[in-house]
Amino acid sequence: MDHLRQILRHFPVLEADRAEVSLRPMAGGLINDTFAVGDDWVLQRLHPIFAAEVNHDIVALTAHLAAAGVVTPRLALASSGQPFAEVQGPRDAGVGGVWRLMGRLPGRTLHRLESPAQAASAGELVARFHAALSGVAHTFRFSRPGAHDTPAHMQALQTAVLTLPAHALYDPVAALAEQIDALWSLHEGAPSLPLRIGHGDLKASNLLFDERGANATAILDLDTMAWMTMDVELGDALRSWCNRAAEDAPTPALDVDVFAAAMRGYAGGARRWITGDERDAIVSGLLRISTELSARFAADALRECYFGWNPDVAPSRGVHNLMRARNQLQFAQQVALARPRLERLVREAFAAAA
Ligand SMILES: Nc1ncnc2c1ncn2[C@@H]1O[C@H](COP(=O)(O)OP(=O)(O)O)[C@@H](O)[C@H]1O
Ligand SMILES: [Mg+2]
Repeated sequence: MDHLRQILRHFPVLEADRAEVSLRPMAGGLINDTFAVGDDWVLQRLHPIFAAEVNHDIVALTAHLAAAGVVTPRLALASSGQPFAEVQGPRDAGVGGVWRLMGRLPGRTLHRLESPAQAASAGELVARFHAALSGVAHTFRFSRPGAHDTPAHMQALQTAVLTLPAHALYDPVAALAEQIDALWSLHEGAPSLPLRIGHGDLKASNLLFDERGANATAILDLDTMAWMTMDVELGDALRSWCNRAAEDAPTPALDVDVFAAAMRGYAGGARRWITGDERDAIVSGLLRISTELSARFAADALRECYFGWNPDVAPSRGVHNLMRARNQLQFAQQVALARPRLERLVREAFAAAA
């Protein structure tokens, strides 16, 4: 960890105790490199898919969130006056890159929601997050185009299958791609919905819960905030919250009780401003995003890319991605089968909140 001490010099707020302060890696994320600095701070190196400018968006939007009482990490200023420090040097040595320092928030990270009560609390917090940003006229300095361009992800899978026939995983991936395509061909197309500022990655591990694991207390990992439609935002959240199994487990399990509770929590806060069209598109969004994700994982299985290969789980990056792709496709198929029931639960949740 000693190579990180030089990074701390960029942040004046640490001046008093940076020589002795402890530095420990924080597990929980897959994208950025995250370290606990003492008890009060978190130091993070941004993954190169994000540009340093994203930190300006985070500073501006977390001010609105804080004003509305929604807790998120706040960034400390570097000695340059910017909310990040650009450190020269090779990335591979663990030092070069864009670093930021933020306050450490109390609470627990959950990799999966374990109960409907947690889902209700998560839904309520996310509705407050959206409400706090509604009416904010922010122009993003950083954006990642095409994050949920589902047709483009479907096309990328077709291209991977067509161009990589010699890959060891070709047969299983090609078979899976056909099933993914079959499910996608049933999709009715994205509805036209208003753009709102959303989080963009509301998976369970990007929320903090109190120590008892009862209530969602904070929202983390704000690099993906952008103007987006709520079907995509909520579809992505729900595919994480409502899958009782891990993303790479052999069999996923759609938890309908967790879904219903998440909707009740969300509806309580959102019913005042969400439109009928947005509400009616939530289940379609869940189906679309889980299908999209299975396509992305399947393409990555052939392209041997993407982060998060765990050698304890799978013998290769490709096989790990194939496991994720199968899980997500089965999950999407479960959503498709349960769709009428899920849509009824959404209507009931909003009716009860009215
Ligand atoms: N400010 C913070 N306070 C407490 N824990 C944090 C904070 N920031 C990050 N973490 C922990 O580190 C993990 C990874 O951070 P995150 O910002 O989500 O990065 P990634 O993009 O890699 O997922 C989180 O899931 C959480 O457990
Ligand atoms: Mg995260």
